[in-house]
Amino acid sequence: MAQAAVLAGLGAWLPPDVVTNDDLAAVLDTDDEWIRTRTGIRQRHVVAPGEATSDLAVEAGARALKSAGQEHADAVVLATSTPDRPCPATAPDVAARLGLQGVAAFDVGAVCTGFIYALATAAGLLATDAAGSVLVIGADTFSTILDPKDRTTRAVFGDGAGAVLLRSGGKDETGALRGLTLGSNGSRSELIEIPGGGSRQRSTGRPVTDADLYFAMQGRAVFAEAVQRMEGSVRHSAERAGWQLADIDRFVPHQANARIITALAARLGVPVEAFASNIDRVGNTVAASIPLALADEVTHNRLRVGDQVLLTGFGGGLTWGSIALTWPDLTAA
Ligand code: COA
Repeated sequence: MAQAAVLAGLGAWLPPDVVTNDDLAAVLDTDDEWIRTRTGIRQRHVVAPGEATSDLAVEAGARALKSAGQEHADAVVLATSTPDRPCPATAPDVAARLGLQGVAAFDVGAVCTGFIYALATAAGLLATDAAGSVLVIGADTFSTILDPKDRTTRAVFGDGAGAVLLRSGGKDETGALRGLTLGSNGSRSELIEIPGGGSRQRSTGRPVTDADLYFAMQGRAVFAEAVQRMEGSVRHSAERAGWQLADIDRFVPHQANARIITALAARLGVPVEAFASNIDRVGNTVAASIPLALADEVTHNRLRVGDQVLLTGFGGGLTWGSIALTWPDLTAA
């Protein structure tokens, strides 16, 4: 019986097209200074016409397998809120294109907390011996669901994908996931939503409009919830892992807004320098945010073998969650 899910590979992929703040300012009533000072974002990557979430997920998934030195995984769990189609799930297509014929494959929807929820789901598959290895991918293409006229959401969100391979192993191994906590508050679901296109709207018989299908967010309320929920979640996970906050070498938070990270660090009483941040280059990439930040940390030698690392996320639902691990010996691909 597996004792723990152990991190064995890490991959990242960003579509090559970049939209800078000046590019947005050329078509919307905004400017580079507002976006940089309010969000910390300088640019974001976006998919090309015709490109979909699965295309990014396949790239990141293949890189995570390569990083682990593996060609196979027993299951694929894809965190996304922008599936290629509303039905079926996107994960089976991703698995097939990775050559993983016949394996378990399904999507997990927890918006910006999706990657943490997917890690937790994969840990469950490993703990019950339903799988010996699981490819966990976070991939989103929010550029495809933003209102082209909405200067706020277009400033914030970008596209991307990140993935890890988890294998079953011992709970004291480096790379073992521990201190896992998850939470939700559905009574505030309207803060982050796509209002139409689902059964609630379709059962009325009213035709779907463009506005129904665009992503909508109440930014200020989301900001306050994000700081408060991630603070509680980090404290809870650290306690469950048996760690003091001062013992944690790197915090890898969901990259929603640089000011959210600064406020979170202040509330935890931890120097902001201990927090990973790549938001200036990628924006908020939703389910891809945490694995992309992890890959960025590894590439820049800010994560070392044996470091105590805490991942934390917050997103639509509302949802939140955190996971602790001691960093294993791996190279991001
Ligand atoms: N350029 C210029 N002005 C902008 C703008 C832009 N891109 N976007 C919004 N504004 C304006 C607003 O219209 C508003 O103008 P008004 O005062 O004349 O009405 C003003 O800036 C303040 O808007 P507000 O929404 O209160 O700004 P804010 O400081 O809260 O920043 C966000 C907005 C979205 C950057 C911020 O709220 C945020 O990051 N929230 C969290 C988002 C998030 O993390 N979402 C994902 C969930 S994980």
